[in-house]
Amino acid sequence: MTMLNRVKALPKGFVWGGATAAYQVEGATTVDGKGKTMWDDYLKAQGRFSPDPASDFYHKYPEDIGLAKKYGLNAIRVSIAWTRIFPKGYGEPNQAGVAYYHKLFKTAIDAGVTPYVSLHHFDEPKTLFDDGDWLNRKNIDYFVDYAKFCFTEFPEVKNWFTINELISLATGQYIVGNFPPNHHFDVTSSIQAQHNELLAHARVVNLYKSMHLDGRIGLIHVLNPVYPITDTPENKHAAALYDAFLNRFLLDGTFLGEYTPETMSLINEILDANDAHLDIEDGDMAILKKASTQNDYFGMNYYQSQFIQAYDGPSGNHFNGTGKKGSSSFSFHGVGQIVPNPDVPTTDWDWNIYPEGLYDLLKRMKREYPNCKTIYITENGMGYKDEFDGTDKVIDDSPRIDFVDQHVAAVLKARDEGVDVQGYFIWSLQDQFSWANGYNKRYGLFYVDFKTQKRYIKKSAEWYKELADTMK
Ligand code: NOJ
Repeated sequence: MTMLNRVKALPKGFVWGGATAAYQVEGATTVDGKGKTMWDDYLKAQGRFSPDPASDFYHKYPEDIGLAKKYGLNAIRVSIAWTRIFPKGYGEPNQAGVAYYHKLFKTAIDAGVTPYVSLHHFDEPKTLFDDGDWLNRKNIDYFVDYAKFCFTEFPEVKNWFTINELISLATGQYIVGNFPPNHHFDVTSSIQAQHNELLAHARVVNLYKSMHLDGRIGLIHVLNPVYPITDTPENKHAAALYDAFLNRFLLDGTFLGEYTPETMSLINEILDANDAHLDIEDGDMAILKKASTQNDYFGMNYYQSQFIQAYDGPSGNHFNGTGKKGSSSFSFHGVGQIVPNPDVPTTDWDWNIYPEGLYDLLKRMKREYPNCKTIYITENGMGYKDEFDGTDKVIDDSPRIDFVDQHVAAVLKARDEGVDVQGYFIWSLQDQFSWANGYNKRYGLFYVDFKTQKRYIKKSAEWYKELADTMK
C-alpha cells in the first residue's frame, strides 16, 4: 500500500464533523414516552449488552456539543429516533420527543456546530417491524408521513438525510443475520428491502422538493469497493457480482433512477442462483427516476474495501480455512467469497485498512453517476480498543489518527482532481454503543467511561482540532 502524504491543511469552508446515531448514543430508551424499536426486546433476549445508557446523549448532548465546538468541529451528524416522535411509528406525535430534538438542534446551532440529520438510522419502530418492516410497503407510507412531520416541525434543520446505510440494514437483517430478525441468506428479502427503501427515500425526496423548503436533502450509502483478489476472469466476474449487490444496485436506483441492464443482469444471476426474486411494481421506477436528479448531495460512508474470489460453495458467514471472521465478510452462493488480502493491514475487528478504496470510490462516483454532485463523507473511522488508565491523561489512539489521516488524504486527493467533496464526518464523535459489539468497540474522538459517563480526550481529538485550525 502506498502511503499518501499526511494531511497538513483543510480547504477553507470544509465541513469537519463528527457522527452519531440516536440509538447508539442517546440511551434513555424508555423515558419521555419513547416507543420501542426493533432492537429493544431483541437485545434484551440476547442478554449480551443493553442500549442503555449508551453515551447518555439524551442528557449529555450539551456537553458533547461543547466538546465538539472546543475541538474545532463545525458540524455534527445526528439522527432523529422515529419512536421518540411517533412511539408506534404513526399516530399522535409525542411532544416530549419533539421538544428534545428542538433543544438538541438549538444547542448545536447556537454553538456553530451545524446539525446534519438522518430520519432513519437502523432504529425501525417495533410495531412496524412486527408488521413486516420495509418488506411491507405500508412502511413506506408511514415513513413519508413521519418525514413530512419532521420537515414541517423542524425548520431549523437545513441538512437532511433520509435513510442511513440501506445495504447494512438489508444484509444485517437478511444475509449475515446479525440484525433483527436474524435471517441468513434470504436473498429475496434482502433485495426487496433495498428496493423498497430506495422507494421510500425517493418518495421523501420528491415530497421535500415539492414543499420548497429552505434546506438540502440526500441519503447515505456505505460503499464497499470490491477488487478481485487476483485478476482471473472468474475472480473478476465474482467481484462484479459482489459490486452489483453491495453498491451498484443502490447507486443506480439512487442516481440513475433505473437499474441498468448490465446491473440487472448481474443481480438476476445472483437471484437465479439463490432461487430469489425481486418485485418491482408499476410506477416504482418513475418515482425513482424523478428523485434521481433531485438529491442535493450524497452522504458516503466508507470503512473498508473487499477482496473477492470466485466460489461455488454454500453461503455462510465464515471462511473455510482462512481463519478470518467478520460481520461484513461472507461467502455468497452464486456470487463469490470475500477473502483476506495478506498485503492489506486490518483493524482489531479484521476490517481492511485501505484508503485507496475511498479514493477509487470518489472517482467512480464522478465518472459513473453525474447526478451525484456534492459529496460528504458522512462516516469513516476506526474501531479500536482504546486503553484508558482511569486518569485524565490524554488517551493515545495514534493508530486511529493514522487511519483518519490517510483517509482524509484520499478525500483531498480526489477533491484536488475535481470530485466535489465538501466535508468529512468522523465516525464517531464520542464512543458509543455498537449494534453487534456492544461497548468494547470504540470509535470516538472522545472516550466515554460508560460507568460514570465521564468524557476523556483522545489524541485524535487534538489532531482534529489542529486540522480545524488550519481553516481559520
Ligand atoms: C455504520 C453505521 O451507520 C453505524 O451505525 C455503525 O456503528 C458504524 N458503521 C460502525 O460499524
